[in-house]
Amino acid sequence: NDTANTVRVASPTSNVEEELAEIDWDNLGFGFMPTDYMYIMKCSQGESFSKGELQRFGNIELNPSAGVLNYGQGLFEGLKAYRKHDGNILLFHPEENAFRLRTGAERMCMPSPSVDQLVEAVKLTVLANERWIPPLGKGSLYIRLLLMGSGAVLGLAPAPEYTFLIYVSPVGNYFKEGSAPINLIVETEMHRATPGGTGGVKTVGNYAAVLKAQSAAKEKGFSDVLYLDSVHKRYLEEVSSCNVFVVKGNVISTPAIKGTILPGITRKSIIDVARSQGFQVQERFVTVDELLDADEVFCTGTAGVIFRVGSITYLGRRVTYGSDGVGVVLLMMILFQLMMIFFQLMVVMIQMMI
Ligand code: COI
Repeated sequence: NDTANTVRVASPTSNVEEELAEIDWDNLGFGFMPTDYMYIMKCSQGESFSKGELQRFGNIELNPSAGVLNYGQGLFEGLKAYRKHDGNILLFHPEENAFRLRTGAERMCMPSPSVDQLVEAVKLTVLANERWIPPLGKGSLYIRLLLMGSGAVLGLAPAPEYTFLIYVSPVGNYFKEGSAPINLIVETEMHRATPGGTGGVKTVGNYAAVLKAQSAAKEKGFSDVLYLDSVHKRYLEEVSSCNVFVVKGNVISTPAIKGTILPGITRKSIIDVARSQGFQVQERFVTVDELLDADEVFCTGTAGVIFRVGSITYLGRRVTYGSDGVGVVLLMMILFQLMMIFFQLMVVMIQMMI
C-alpha cells in the first residue's frame, strides 16, 4: 500500500523511538500518550468534507469563538485497532462509528465525513502510527475521532466551519480494577440524559455532564456511576461511558435504544454473540429492582470492551453478584476474546495489509 509506505518512511524520530522503548506494555492503563500523526479534514458550513491530510501530532489552533468551545457543538467517537498474530492489523467495526457519527452530526447541525472517507482516514492514521499499536495481547491502539464546530460564532448558531480530526493512543485496561469486577453506585439525583435531548448521540457535553457524579462516586471508592431515567427514576440507562446488561437465568436484558442511551457498538456485537450462543436477549425497559435481583451484571463499551460488575449500591443497599463458577459474563468475555483471536468475526472486522 503506497500511502502506508510513504507515511512510514517519514515517521520515526530518534526521540520517539526512545520513548517507545520505555513503554511498559504490560501495564498500559487508559491514559493519553502522544503518538506520531493525526489526521485533519475541514469544511465550511453548507459544504461537504472533501480532502484531509495527516499531520505530525501536536496542538491545534482554535479561534476563542469556535462553536465547540462556546456552544459545545462537538462529537467524538472511539474505536480500537488490534495487532494480529501474523502482523496485520484489525479494526473493530469502523463503519459503525461512521454511521453513529453521521447520526450525531445530524442532531448537532454539523456536516460529517462519508462512511468511506471516515474509514479510509482511520486506516491512514492507524498505519501512520502503526508502531504504537501494543504487542498482541497487551492492549490496543485507541482511535479517537473528533468532529467539531471550529469556525467562529458569537450569536447562537451553527459554526461556519467544521474540523474532523483523528488521533490515537496505545491503551490497556480502562478501569484501574483491570479485569477484576467493578463496583457501581446508582445515581438517584443527577441524570445523564432526558427524552428529546442528546443522550443518544456521542456529543462531548454528555461526558462533561457525568463528571460530578463520577468524581463523587470515586471519592467513595466506587468504580463508576449507573444512571436511571430522568422521568420515572426507576429504569436503567447506562454507566457514564458504557452500556449495562442484566443476567437472570438464560435471559440477558439491556436498556433499549430510545434516544437517552448511546447505541454502543460493543453492545451490538455482544447481543449478537449472546444470541448466537442461545441466550435470550431482551432490549427493553429494565427496572432497578430487576438489577438488584439479577444473577450477574456486566457492562460493555469501546474503552473497556466487556467487564463484570461485582457490586451495585442503590440507596445505601449493596448487592453483590456472580462470585461462583464461570457464569454468563465470564463466558461472554471468553467467547468475545476467542472470536477476536481466531477472527471468526472477520465479516465485521477490517483486515489491513501492511
Ligand atoms: C469509548 O468507549 O470510546 C468512550 O466513549 C469512553 C470514553 C469516555 C473514554
